[in-house]
Amino acid sequence: MDTSELQRKIVELKEEKNALLIVHNYQIPEIQEIGDFVGDSLQLSRRAQEAGDVDLIVFCGVDFMAETASILNQDKKIIIPSARARCPMAAMLPVSVLRAAKESHPDASVVLYVNTYAEAKAEADVTCTSSNAAEIIGKLDAETILFGPDKNLVWYAGQKNPGKTLISVPADGFCYVHRFFGDGAAAMQLKDEYPEAELLVHPECEPEFQMRADYVLSTGGMYRRCQESDAKVFILGTEVGLVDRLRREIPGKTFLPALEHNECSAMKQITLENTYQALLDEEPVVKVPSEIAERARVPIRRMLEMS
Ligand code: 13P
Ligand code: SF4
Repeated sequence: MDTSELQRKIVELKEEKNALLIVHNYQIPEIQEIGDFVGDSLQLSRRAQEAGDVDLIVFCGVDFMAETASILNQDKKIIIPSARARCPMAAMLPVSVLRAAKESHPDASVVLYVNTYAEAKAEADVTCTSSNAAEIIGKLDAETILFGPDKNLVWYAGQKNPGKTLISVPADGFCYVHRFFGDGAAAMQLKDEYPEAELLVHPECEPEFQMRADYVLSTGGMYRRCQESDAKVFILGTEVGLVDRLRREIPGKTFLPALEHNECSAMKQITLENTYQALLDEEPVVKVPSEIAERARVPIRRMLEMS
């Protein structure tokens, strides 16, 4: 079956089953094209919360995102097209490590990046995404905050909130895709070639790269900046899926990846083929047990209210 035929069949089946196809910015273009909604982690959490009258949510993203949809929609069936779409960063914060940190810092508040598993979220005061981390940290009364698992996002939020003491849990959690940009030397070569370009960098990147950026933004923030800015050329320090989306949806501007082919292999586990199969079989199902979901819903809802 060719691509457009498969896309047509997925859309048909989705309508027949009253399903919602939620898609992260890092998905392959063929999936993005047929999504009911494409966005960053915060936008997808909000969309999942407002899922409304659908029978099925197909989550084209990674495991912790589908878990968040399950936490917010316990009465709905959530499926992820590939059980192999697992974010390695989320696995860097086992709940035992978080509990030990809480015992060592009993007065600290706990902020967790949404890139964590439900069990860990159930132990948090509030969650955050890359687009609202600094804002949420700033709004908390506590001076000392346990925050994880991404060390670079902790650094970013700390720069924006100099009055707070942020403790990274674990000490060195990271995203291998964003770490791969290093200090951004390749992006600076592009900047030499295109001096008029705006350099947009994700806060999961190393501090040295963030410091070179014109703006540090979530993928949703980058999308908005590319729409609204007068600049005509942009260098993007994030996963290339976003560059595909920008090229498709914002004509007349030039979008350059800070590194060619810097892909998240977890995100790229999802294909048109397994999306079609998952819709047909209605599996693999992602279902967070109700006892954990009840506790994990509190910090997620708090995030949605605070930002
Ligand atoms: P955002 O899309 O929220 O910026 O997050 C990027 C990411 O790495 C998700 O895993
Ligand atoms: Fe996880 Fe990084 Fe992939 Fe995002 S880009 S899903 S943080 S590995």
